Amino acid sequence: MAASSSHYDVIIIGAGAAGLMCAATAGYRGRKVLVVDHANKPGKKILMSGGGRCNFTNLNSTPANFLSDNPHYCISALKRYTPQDFLELVDRHGVEHEEKAPGQLFCKTSAKDILNVLLTECEWAGAEIRMATSITQVQASGAGYKLKTSSGALSCESLVIACGGLSIPTMGATGFGYELAKQFGLSVLPTRAGLVPFTLHPELKQQLAPLSGVSCPVEARCHNQYFKEPMLVTHRGLSGPSMLQVSSYWQPGDEVHINLLPAQKIQEDLFALRKSKPQSTIAQYLNQHLPKRFAQAFNELQGWSRPLQEYRNLELEQVADTLGNWSVKPAGTEGYRTAEVTLGGVDTRQLSSKTMAVLEQPNLYFIGEVVDVTGHLGGHNFQWAWASGVAAGNAA
Ligand code: FDA
Repeated sequence: MAASSSHYDVIIIGAGAAGLMCAATAGYRGRKVLVVDHANKPGKKILMSGGGRCNFTNLNSTPANFLSDNPHYCISALKRYTPQDFLELVDRHGVEHEEKAPGQLFCKTSAKDILNVLLTECEWAGAEIRMATSITQVQASGAGYKLKTSSGALSCESLVIACGGLSIPTMGATGFGYELAKQFGLSVLPTRAGLVPFTLHPELKQQLAPLSGVSCPVEARCHNQYFKEPMLVTHRGLSGPSMLQVSSYWQPGDEVHINLLPAQKIQEDLFALRKSKPQSTIAQYLNQHLPKRFAQAFNELQGWSRPLQEYRNLELEQVADTLGNWSVKPAGTEGYRTAEVTLGGVDTRQLSSKTMAVLEQPNLYFIGEVVDVTGHLGGHNFQWAWASGVAAGNAA
């Protein structure tokens, strides 16, 4: 095809984390790159991430931090572009950062710093970014692609789909990437909201209402996945890192098991306390180890009012079990409205794990959240966006 102002070597749909990373990488290889996005500004999710400070990677990220129907798929890209590689880029741009929790790196000032790194890299690499452009048609044409857009017709040799998942529709999320995958005959695994707060049935919601705003360190479990992180009671249900983490493993109807005192040997403690201070109460024990408001309300919820000496062994064992294995059956989740990620997506069995290219369709690539690779909370999802973006950017 003759070169024209509307012809590019690489067109990337989606100016988010993965798309911008891919654009800079391909641009540095000398490819003529265009990123198109229907939103008015690039990288909106980067700006809202990590409470406005962007948890941009996790130094301890391993493939075990990712959910996928094809768990080995992510290994190659993650190995070839590591958290240290992204950290080196961030440092080269002089972005100040801090490790807020083990391995979790956040911007010290603002998530804007990370977006600026990506936009600067795109500029240096000569990649063009065209916002507020909707794509109305994508067609294979010879070995390349033709696109109809609100800003005119475009064509390219390689097409990269980086339009993310369904979470936070108000930030521009659409199912366009899945539709394109289906258009090219790819299978898309069922999608659902991940890293999302739980909603509760009315009775428990009402009982926990006085605890709204209280956070405590717990160990939460669902389908044998354990997360020792804080839990937050909200006026809608249960949130906080531990709940967001288990939500990615939760299916409707499942129970979530919560150890409210993961640092204690609860049964041993209660038996010893009954012996040493028979007049003391469970409320007093809870007060020592949980935030006071939580201790009081949880104690009331369970109706534990007698002195310890009045509890028989079996009863104390039951109390210990309730505290160490509090089972809650959520009504549901808050859904895509507040979910940080979308689980499921383009089935990775149809993609090259080295380049992210579709195996059966020449020069078509899927990267970032649109594919069936979803990270745990803590910077892993951006690490996947960077790694998959670089993998495709080196090939497209
Ligand atoms: P992303 O969603 O970033 O970009 C997709 C782009 O495609 C968007 O610009 C969108 O406008 C565009 N697009 C969509 N449909 C289109 C269409 N039809 N036509 C044209 N363009 C289209 N992760 C992490 O590691 N650390 C963190 O701190 C956080 N924090 C966080 C907070 C909140 C509130 C959310 C919602 C998410 C996070 N995440 C996170 C997750 C992280 O934001 C997410 O995994 C990445 O942004 C995914 O990058 P992508 O580039 O794949 O999609």
